[in-house]
Amino acid sequence: MTIRKICSIGHPVLREPARPVPPEEIGSAEIQRLIDDLIETMRDAHGAGLAANQVHETVQVCVMEVTRNPRYPYKPPFPLMVLVNPEIEPLDDDVFDVYEGCLSVPDLRGSVPRHMNIRVRALGRAGDPIDVVVRGITAGTYQHEVDHLRGRLILDRVEDTTTLCTWAEFDRWHRDAFVERAGDIVRRYGS
Ligand code: NI
Repeated sequence: MTIRKICSIGHPVLREPARPVPPEEIGSAEIQRLIDDLIETMRDAHGAGLAANQVHETVQVCVMEVTRNPRYPYKPPFPLMVLVNPEIEPLDDDVFDVYEGCLSVPDLRGSVPRHMNIRVRALGRAGDPIDVVVRGITAGTYQHEVDHLRGRLILDRVEDTTTLCTWAEFDRWHRDAFVERAGDIVRRYGS
């Protein structure tokens, strides 16, 4: 496994929609190595997720994992998830604003409206079908990573640009209120 370089906003690869992986190619050494590298790179950077575009590969592969994360201590933990060719379907109109950051948008956070109840269909790293309902803050993480695969970044989603802040100013001015709101979301949606 290799820690790959994560590109930053401005690099065209972040704006390029990723192409689906033909199911028969998921088991290839190239895709399996990409998955391993995404996992290692995400963990090294203390990210909650990482999409292939962020390491200069335009294929529809992303990984997510939340352990006790120093970048996002309010995020409920969930185990490693590998998604190939993910599709997201909102299940209702429940939307909440969630502060997000991104490894490709250094030192900036902003509040992004996210669906709270989604159905996710994808393939796993063994080509196995995944069909799950995901709720709450965790649903926001899924939407963030699938946005990457469509060439979209958090800045495209931020509706109120006055919420944009550096990490230091987030900690100083917005963190306490958001942690409280995130707690409400987790109690309401279970994650
Ligand atoms: Ni991101």
